[in-house]
Amino acid sequence: MNFFLLCFLLVTFSFAYTPGYELSNFKISPSGFTGDLTLLSPGPYPPSVETLKLVVNFQTQQRLRIQIFDPSKDNWQVPYVSQVNNTNQAPDEMDYDVTYTKNPFSLKVVRTSDDYVLLDTKPIQNQINGLIYQKQYIEWTNNLEANPIVFGLGERRSKFPLDLNQVYTHFAIDINHGFNDNWYGVHPVYYQLNKNNGKFHALFLLNSNPMDVVLNDTSISWRTIGGIIDLFVFTGGTIYETMAQYQEVIGKPYRAAYWHLGWQQCRWGYKNISDVQNVVDNYNKYQIPLDTQWTDIDTMDNYKDFTFNPTTFPKTEFKEFTDSLHAQHKHYIPIIDPGIKIESNYFAYELGNELDIWVKNSAGAPFFGQVWPGYTYFPDFTHPKAKEYWKTLFEQYHKDIGYDSIWIDMNEASNFIEICKDNEHNYPYVPGGRCLNQRTITLESEQYISSAFNTHSMYGYTETIVTREAFNEIFPGKRTAIISRSTFAGQGKHGQHWLGDNYSTFEWMKESIAGIIHFNLFGVPLVGADICGFNGETTEELCVRWSQLGVFYPFTRNHNSVNMRSQEPFAFSEDARNTIKSFIELRYYILPYLYTTFESAARDSMPVWRAMMYDYPEDSYTWYLDEQVMVGDSFLIFPVLEEGATSVEGYVPNDDWYNYLTGESVMKKLENQVHGLHMQFLASIDTMPILLKGGKIIPAQPSALTTYEARQNNFELIVALDSNSEASGWLYVDDGESIEVGDNYSEIHFNVANNKLTSTIKKDKYDPLSSTPLHLLKFFGMGPITSLNVNGKSCQFDYNAKTKVLTVSNLNANLNSDLVVEWD
Ligand code: GLC
Repeated sequence: MNFFLLCFLLVTFSFAYTPGYELSNFKISPSGFTGDLTLLSPGPYPPSVETLKLVVNFQTQQRLRIQIFDPSKDNWQVPYVSQVNNTNQAPDEMDYDVTYTKNPFSLKVVRTSDDYVLLDTKPIQNQINGLIYQKQYIEWTNNLEANPIVFGLGERRSKFPLDLNQVYTHFAIDINHGFNDNWYGVHPVYYQLNKNNGKFHALFLLNSNPMDVVLNDTSISWRTIGGIIDLFVFTGGTIYETMAQYQEVIGKPYRAAYWHLGWQQCRWGYKNISDVQNVVDNYNKYQIPLDTQWTDIDTMDNYKDFTFNPTTFPKTEFKEFTDSLHAQHKHYIPIIDPGIKIESNYFAYELGNELDIWVKNSAGAPFFGQVWPGYTYFPDFTHPKAKEYWKTLFEQYHKDIGYDSIWIDMNEASNFIEICKDNEHNYPYVPGGRCLNQRTITLESEQYISSAFNTHSMYGYTETIVTREAFNEIFPGKRTAIISRSTFAGQGKHGQHWLGDNYSTFEWMKESIAGIIHFNLFGVPLVGADICGFNGETTEELCVRWSQLGVFYPFTRNHNSVNMRSQEPFAFSEDARNTIKSFIELRYYILPYLYTTFESAARDSMPVWRAMMYDYPEDSYTWYLDEQVMVGDSFLIFPVLEEGATSVEGYVPNDDWYNYLTGESVMKKLENQVHGLHMQFLASIDTMPILLKGGKIIPAQPSALTTYEARQNNFELIVALDSNSEASGWLYVDDGESIEVGDNYSEIHFNVANNKLTSTIKKDKYDPLSSTPLHLLKFFGMGPITSLNVNGKSCQFDYNAKTKVLTVSNLNANLNSDLVVEWD
């Protein structure tokens, strides 16, 4: 296109003004209000819908839902995701006030507790359009406070918070076009901070069609080309309250198995069983913890799902290998891609034909694409027989090789056949500006519940749901992980995610921080990035630095692409290997703390990774930090993200902080002060700065080669005292694998005040806890003392006057019983 014509179109488009609709027939109902909307002036992509229905439903004290749709037709509404229905009765109290204008129509939602405007769709002449609702283009704009702090709107490589003056496209795609561009998954929710008082809120547009969200410095516009407007407004509060409100709608996260928090090793390009066996042997030889060994598509016969390469991964030997892993209390995870090779006598293909399970093209024949095995059909995971199909295949595969969880990949869905010619497309407005049929199942295809135009971005999500249903039967009562590349809002209820194909560079390592923070906000806490990098050759230094960061990822897996140099911890020098090993051991040591943190995620929707602003929202210095992060509520880590660096600069919020590795105080909280300090930390290659927050108590267990063995070790507690010499923390333990925990868990809360540590036992039903008593106590920030009693008995202790660390060892205190530690 001619440059001047392009400029003209852009200018015309941005200044074209449409006042939208007029509201009439306004009716108050017991649960909110309804109205009719009549078109005032057409928008840019006719035809417009002349009359719309508006339904505003006051659902809970903190949540309302706004739906706008064409009442004359059967609209596509996103299935599966929402865990809530419209209510018939408004709640007694509401933290919001909704007002409207009739001509032109607009809505305004104000949070009553602080008069903050959460939604204001008022059109502004020559600046902001009113509602546009056309056959294939819906646009609605919300006026925001100037230079807002907004995050969410995934999946993409992005900053945290998001850059302003950007278009955030929502459309699942397997190719990474660039920073801020759409990628594997779709999560159309955004969170925003009220910069004046540190409160958060969120808005979620439940729409699965291709969509742009335009974030400017005073507004945000949704531009979707299908579905309806189905907008949830959450009045929020703290970020944690806001996340919990969002998860009431999309579902809380699936509870992680304990072993899934262990270290995991994968690569694309293990050539045969002995290659993989060598990896496991080396982990054992160097005594490096490893919980899960993975394999990639290399194990398959010509890349056909559920098959085995007869020469390199013969089934019988393969089963012996996984049996040997299990005998060591290690686990095994393979990969499955959705494309099923079109090949007579191939059981997965024949069964698919028999059940007529395939996604269809517009002519009603199975849609064919091309993935690793060649030409493939794609199972339709919305089909009523999808579970039967998938379960049959996975059940046999489980009998064959006894895997413990699954990795589902390429499910955007990826298709190597290039269907787009000259970037052609069939839609008047194209979110993202690129042909939407690029490298995927074409949008004209049909799934059982609707066309791919509507369901496209939910392919990986529906695959996750069906896999979960199958796994509930194949692994009755047992927790498993379903690590999916493509995700949609609500993924966390059924499965997990990793950030996909990154590059072995410091830049990509840094970006993983914003990515993992974002997925926690999307309700998928078990998420990680490929440690040491996937594409490209890693270096020893990068892999060491990435492992130091990676052991704090909620999901920790070292994964590598084909033909790249090996990057397992023992692929480097002895020093590098020892450093990586010591960091993996550090993770194993704090696993009881991490598992407890994951319990907060499953129970209370809490994030495992926390951006700095979450706990310090009123400190503006925390607002733009995405190179450091809090792990749970206690650890603050400063990863080394620059090649050659031997120190890191970071921001330490105003609080009590200790150097986790030495126990020494790093900062004392200053009263009446909002800001903390910018600090520089030394970070030679064998270390990474880790701070522990004063006022927190961390449960730990010494490391071992697997989580299973580590769980047999006696407990330790690290007590980091705050400036008032107080602290608190808790421990949650269960068997780590049952879906239904019932009463069979122990939950112990610890508290320190007035020179006394006490435990409150909320539940003591996990019996094995009694066989791993508290063995060691460590206090950070302790003054000199003269005596210490544990459960009434005087105990020896070590005190380091320089570091102010007090250690009490050789305790034998059952944590399922009351604990009282007193000192003078
Ligand atoms: C995709 C995955 C990657 C995997 C590869 C081969 O690129 O994202 O992790 O190794 O396919 O299966």
